[in-house]
Amino acid sequence: ISLKPYNSFGIEVKAAYFAEIFAEEDLTELFQNDLIKSQKLFVIGGGSNVLFTSDYEGLVIKISIKGVAAEMIDKRVMVTAGAGEVWNDFVQYCVTRGFAGVENLSLIPGTVGASPIQNIGAYGVELKDVFESCTAFDIETGNIKTFTYADCHFGYRESVFKGTLKGRYIITSVTFHLSAEAKINTSYGAIETELLNKGIEKPNIADVSAAVSHIRVSKLPDPSTIGNAGSFFKNPVIEKHEFADIVSKHPDVVHYPTADDKIKLAAGWLIEQCGWKGKKVGNTGTWKNQALVLVNHGGATGMEVYDLSEQIIDSVKSTFGVTLEREVNIL
Ligand code: EPU
Repeated sequence: ISLKPYNSFGIEVKAAYFAEIFAEEDLTELFQNDLIKSQKLFVIGGGSNVLFTSDYEGLVIKISIKGVAAEMIDKRVMVTAGAGEVWNDFVQYCVTRGFAGVENLSLIPGTVGASPIQNIGAYGVELKDVFESCTAFDIETGNIKTFTYADCHFGYRESVFKGTLKGRYIITSVTFHLSAEAKINTSYGAIETELLNKGIEKPNIADVSAAVSHIRVSKLPDPSTIGNAGSFFKNPVIEKHEFADIVSKHPDVVHYPTADDKIKLAAGWLIEQCGWKGKKVGNTGTWKNQALVLVNHGGATGMEVYDLSEQIIDSVKSTFGVTLEREVNIL
């Protein structure tokens, strides 16, 4: 089966085996099959954080478990969504009902089930800020396990599902704690500017969602027309003494302090400084409005995109002495 419709980079590759899952029971049934059990496995949600560099000689599982349910407990709203719900549909479900907490995460591609794996984040909010728990299918035992916030070991674009438990569990649903009383977060400068431009002084969560969506559309390529997987690299976090060295040579380096007394650099800025912004290399390149996003201009192979990412890593390393780490899964 062709995986082109299942990866937002739009790379033409095939999977040896493919299964689409609509309920937890489907997983139980699937993993009773010995042939299936012996395959290497890749679980796909929206396919928006993966780069296939060759055909997949194993089993790809597409998670399509649907359903959203909300429960009010005082001013808190617990919302549980199936792993296969499209992330932005879930956000809009919450925004239209006045459930606050995920509006800053509007228009992030992908599915609900993928959201805890890399602790998705944007515009001042991370998934972990609203995460209550999730359920997951244990591939080894066939049991369903509930993971609490503490179980997940969230970090910047990190969780236990990318770390020590990688490949062991398939997330089937996620529960979020949201609020019926909006506490708007417009700390991210671009949101404030966008609201100001529209003359909105007292924004509600729908205004914030619209502002974030507008910013994203203006900066990021739409994967349905130009293949991409959002930020290709993580923003590097470095020690203060390393930063001192960089800032002495590059006084205008874009940077942010982190909670643990380190410095986060803007990878997009580093890449742009190295001359890559908007550059086309064969069928691939970086996006004209956001150098952190690698794109498929049409017909690119996964290896072409991967090679470009290697070149970018090399050039940022030699200019700034910083090693970029990929955020996208390479297969
Ligand atoms: N910048 C440049 N040149 C560029 C791109 C960015 O100079 O080509 C500068 C910007 O001017 C700004 C800074 O870098 O000063 C940060 O840029 P931006 O606000 O666009 O955010 P980002 O750090 O590049 C991160 C996330 C995005 C998220 C945005 C908004 C990562 C790896 N990326 O990008 O998440 O949407 O912040 O919060 O943390 C994703 O993970 O796929 C993703 C898109």
